[in-house]
Amino acid sequence: MEIETVGVIGAGVMGVGVAQNLAQSEYRVLLIDLNDEILDRARSQIQENLRFHALLKKGPAMPRTKVVMDRITFSPDCRILEAADFLIENVVEKWEVKRRLYQEVDSICPGRTIFAANTSAIPITRIASATKRPAQVLGMHFMNPVPLKHMVEVIRGYHTSAETIDAARNLLVKMGKECVIVNDSPGFVSNRVLMLTINEAIFLLHERVASSAEVDTIFKECFGHKMGPLETADLIGLDTILLSLEALSESFSDSKYRPCPLLKQMVDAGLYGRKSGVGFYSYRNTD
Ligand code: NAI
Repeated sequence: MEIETVGVIGAGVMGVGVAQNLAQSEYRVLLIDLNDEILDRARSQIQENLRFHALLKKGPAMPRTKVVMDRITFSPDCRILEAADFLIENVVEKWEVKRRLYQEVDSICPGRTIFAANTSAIPITRIASATKRPAQVLGMHFMNPVPLKHMVEVIRGYHTSAETIDAARNLLVKMGKECVIVNDSPGFVSNRVLMLTINEAIFLLHERVASSAEVDTIFKECFGHKMGPLETADLIGLDTILLSLEALSESFSDSKYRPCPLLKQMVDAGLYGRKSGVGFYSYRNTD
């Protein structure tokens, strides 16, 4: 099946990056979020990113910003997804929100449409259970910022068919990406390890063993990581980290995933990291 039109649900940190990357790869994109205010912000963000990337890009000429923007339809109405060949879902990491959404889009989209969940920790098999097309549901765990990260963790749910995996792989190739395919498990490979690392790094800060910069410097200088765990947490969003730890804790019924009280307090205080301007570090120009 030729994929031409891709629905992208959720226009936050991840949805914006996925929509931009798809439109740059010549797909028609239907970008959905709850209201026009969020969608206007997403439009400005994509325009800004495209201009920035055009300045940085040294390789083949980038399509003009207008050409890319014209490929994206911004709408708060899920019903336009009846035209989608493929869906990539990026809504907030809450099972109840995702469950209701998958039930809704399952009744809107044609039988051929493939559903890809860009979740951090919710099992793909559980997501597929909210639909009547479990063979056509898989996980596509993109990395942030999406247009700049070439590797994607693809997750095969219990019922995911080989054709669904092939279609996802072909889509990723056209987006300029490669993938590692893993079997379903809460948090998959990446976040089962990463969320524990980030949580433990927050405990170190909470217990005053080291400062944020000291924790991150050890990972960068001693282990050669490009970013430390607390910088990574700020990039992902502390609200998403907390929701992912809660999903892991619930899925495994294992207390090792209990979120650090400092993480909870920071989320309560609105310190979400880069997206709110302050997390473990400040991203405000005036600070
Ligand atoms: P975000 O909080 O920036 O964006 C979520 C968006 O979903 C918001 O704009 C919200 O308005 C929208 N939304 C909520 N309910 C909706 C509904 N019923 N219909 C349409 N839109 C709805 O979150 P972010 O970081 O973009 O995460 C989205 C998903 O991607 C989560 O499942 C997260 O775990 C996953 N993820 C996040 C990564 C990251 O680095 N932030 C990396 C990979 C996956």
